[in-house]
Parts: sequence; C-alpha cells; structure tokens
Amino acid sequence: MGPVQIKQLINSTPVGESVEVKGWVRTKRESKNAIFIALNDGSTIHTIQAVAEPGQLPDDLLRLITTGSCIKVTGQLVASLGSGQSVEVKIQDVQVYGTADPEVYPLQPKKHSLEFLREIAHLRPRTNTFGAILRLRHTLAYAVHKYYNDNGFFYLHTPIITASDAEGAGEMFRVTTLDMYNPPKDEAGKIDFKEDFFGRETNLTVSGQLEGELGALALSKIYTFGPTFRAENSNTTRHLAEFWMIEPEMAFFELQDNMDLAEDFVKYVIRYALEHCADDLAFLEKRQAEEEKNKPQNERSMPLLEKLRFVVDSPFERLTYTEAIDILVKSKAHKEKKFQYPVEWGIDLQSEHERYLVEKHFKKPVILTNYPREIKAFYMKQDDESAAAPGPTVRAMDVLFPGIGEIIGGSQREENYEKLLQRVHEVGIEPESLWWYLETRQFGTAPHAGFGLGFERLVLFVSGMGNIRDVIPFPRYPKSAEF
Ligand code: 4AD
Ligand code: MG
Repeated sequence: MGPVQIKQLINSTPVGESVEVKGWVRTKRESKNAIFIALNDGSTIHTIQAVAEPGQLPDDLLRLITTGSCIKVTGQLVASLGSGQSVEVKIQDVQVYGTADPEVYPLQPKKHSLEFLREIAHLRPRTNTFGAILRLRHTLAYAVHKYYNDNGFFYLHTPIITASDAEGAGEMFRVTTLDMYNPPKDEAGKIDFKEDFFGRETNLTVSGQLEGELGALALSKIYTFGPTFRAENSNTTRHLAEFWMIEPEMAFFELQDNMDLAEDFVKYVIRYALEHCADDLAFLEKRQAEEEKNKPQNERSMPLLEKLRFVVDSPFERLTYTEAIDILVKSKAHKEKKFQYPVEWGIDLQSEHERYLVEKHFKKPVILTNYPREIKAFYMKQDDESAAAPGPTVRAMDVLFPGIGEIIGGSQREENYEKLLQRVHEVGIEPESLWWYLETRQFGTAPHAGFGLGFERLVLFVSGMGNIRDVIPFPRYPKSAEF
C-alpha cells in the first residue's frame, strides 16, 4: 500500500532493484565526484542517501533541491560505499513536489532551540528530535491499548463535555453557545444557563473517572484514554491545559491490586518502547547527553536507556504518606531549611518533596499511599480510624517518578453510600448534580479502584525531554493555542 517507506528500504538487501523514494530533503552536498541528497520520510530517524553523478541533473532542477523541499527519487537500490549506511539510491530521475526557499524556510540543518521550534510547531515534526518523539508517543499509545486489551480490559469512551467537576478543583473550561456579549439573564440578574445549549452549565472534562466507574461497575475492568482539560494557570514544565490521560477502573480491586496494576502497566509500556523504539531512544539519549554536557557531572541525568532499564527492573518503593512525612522531617534538607515549602503532616506534597523522596532518598520510583483525607478528592475510600496516622486518611496512591514527580494519581473508591454522601456534603458538592454517580452505591455497589496516568508525563520521562510542551504535537498552555 502506498510507496515503500525509507524504514523498509534501509533494511533491505540491495539487488539493483529499481525503487521510488518520496520524502523531504534534509541536506544536499555536492562534491567533485557526486551529488549526495539525504532524504527522510518520517518513517524512521534515519535518512536514505540518494546519489547522482556531477552534471547528471540539470542545473535548474538541482537548484530546487534544497533542505526542506519534497521530492521523488527514482533509481536503483545499491550497496553503499560510504560509511553510516548499507544501501543508497543511485539516482535516475528526480521529481520536485514542493520547493522550500532557503531564504525563508526556517528549518536549516543546524541546531535550533526548543523554544524557537515551539514557535514553528507546524514544521517541527520534520526535525530529528520531534520525529523521534512523535514515533515514541505513538508506540507508547499503542502499548497502552495492547496492555489493557491483553489483560481483559475494555476501552470505554467517556464524555469530553461534562456538567461535573470530578476532581473538585474547579479549574475547568466552560463550554457554551450563549452570546457572551449579551447573555440571557434570570430574575436575579444572573446568567441563565437554562437557555444554554445543554440547558445547564457545562465544561470540558478534567477526568473520565466518574463515568469510568460506571463502566467498571458493569464490565468489571475498563480503561479510558482521552483528552482532559485543566484551566489551572500553571506555567511549569510539567503542566498542560490539554493533556491525555489513561484511566483504568476495576471492580473488585483494592488498593494493593491497584498499586500492582499501576506498576506492572508502566513497566510494560516502557519495556515496549525499549523494544520497539531502539533507534529513536538511542538518538534521544545522545540528544540528552549533548544538552547536559555543560552541566557539572553530579547534576547530569543518568543515560536515558540505563534510566529506563533501571525503572523496568527495580521494584517501586511503597510507603504511606505518613512515613514519607517522617522521612522528610528527618531529612538534612528540612533541617537546613532547604525546602521552599514547610513540611508537616497534612500538607499537600510539593514537587520538591516528591523529588527529594524519589531522587535523593530512595533513588527509584515510589508509590505513596494513605494520604490525609482533606487534601484528596471526595470519592476516595476512607481508611479505618485505626490507621497509624495523626488524622483521617484515604486509600489514595500516587506514583512518583525521578525527574517528573507525580506521574500517576489514583485510589480505591468509596463504595459505601452513606460515607460517600457525607463527603459530598462536606466538600460542598450538590448531591443532585451527582445523583447518577451516587446511585451506583445504592444498586449493587462493589469495592473498586482505579488511577490516572498523565500520558505526556510518561512521554516526558521516556524521551528524556525537559519540558512537557515538547512531547505533544501542538501544546496548549496559558496564552498559547496557535496551531
Ligand atoms: O492526579 P490527577 O488529578 O487524578 C485524576 O484526575 C483522577 N481522576 C485519576 C483517576 O484516579 N482516574 O491526575 C492524574 C494524572 C497526574 O498524576 C498527572 O500525571 C497527570 O494526570 N496530570 C497532568 N498532566 C499534564 N498536565 C496537567 N495539568 C496535569 N494534571 C494532571
Ligand atoms: Mg494527583
């Protein structure tokens, strides 16, 4: 189907067979004895070299073959004499599909900063770095589906437009068709959302979890994998306003099962990438080393492949929030007041605390459990009062990764109707707005659990990139929605 891809060509044995290669010119080099064109079609990090004899191609054709132009080469696949590739194409003919004037084409064969490339997100997929990231991203997404399919989960499509705030953080984007310049008003002078498209206030979802639970309480094991939206004004290297989340939800799973699944799942997808993206990961490893070469030795990251293999091979450390606070309070960093945010039982851990635990103390991924009830969402199952903690806790679990901080957040869910209803009241949610969710606890309720993996945080970790804006094709963040 379609033309042969460069990925296949560079792995085939040269038989003098005639071939047609289509792609974008990365470089053109003219020497006394030959003209070399490096061609890439995005199927692989590698280019294929096409070679013509001097004078073989007319000058006005040769002039159009520049970095970024798109061409079709017809020729013979032959063994390459040069180093670095085993085959090359001996050119018979070249057809130019599209030129790229070197005076204005922004992607020249030199190093461009990631900040600059973000401004030309329409073209950056043509660079080695973004080609590698996008292929890796695809492979990880495929591995996610494969993992759940192979383990008896069903892919459930949860809605993007919703009337409920699953996480209760209130950081939602409104969805409306009302005239913003002249909205209908009710008797009290407030905007009358009964007139809106859905007859109520609606938003873009922050999580598919609540509907995911409805699926789990029927199909036992489901997962969602879709876009989620958060209007938090976080200008960090870890936050996007639009990101993709994978949310498995399982009936008859308790907190332990949830942790086992989370660990097995992330290790599987990372292993899958190691097996299927070897060339791209090798490139990204070199890129990272290059990027950090001016840093002092002790501040450099572990080489990428070594880091990934280490995570796949070592058991994650599991401990409670209360135990983690204890470690932080006793740490040198705390005693020497190195933390920007104070540490005491009850605080929401800041990324500096999470990274201390993962990078300095345990030096491996960590799963923290049984967080204080007050800092977690209303739906988490409450622990027995006998739990060894200074205050009420819930069966939450966060998976923390080196260089990333929180990569997964999840919990066992409160399946007891009265207890759940009480939490709904306490956090100030109107029970009527969640009647359907609450009803599942009245009709055949069951112990169940689930979690959410931030897909871009996973890609960030596996690619070794430093900014989450560089692992999604067209990032959305405050003041940026250009492409
Ligand atoms: O911890 P969070 O908020 O949990 C939930 O949304 C639950 N409903 C998940 C569940 O139990 N089904 O988000 C889950 C994960 C985080 O651990 C993080 O990896 C990612 O989503 N995440 C973000 N990624 C990029 N940009 C943001 N603004 C993110 N906010 C959360
Ligand atoms: Mg969280």
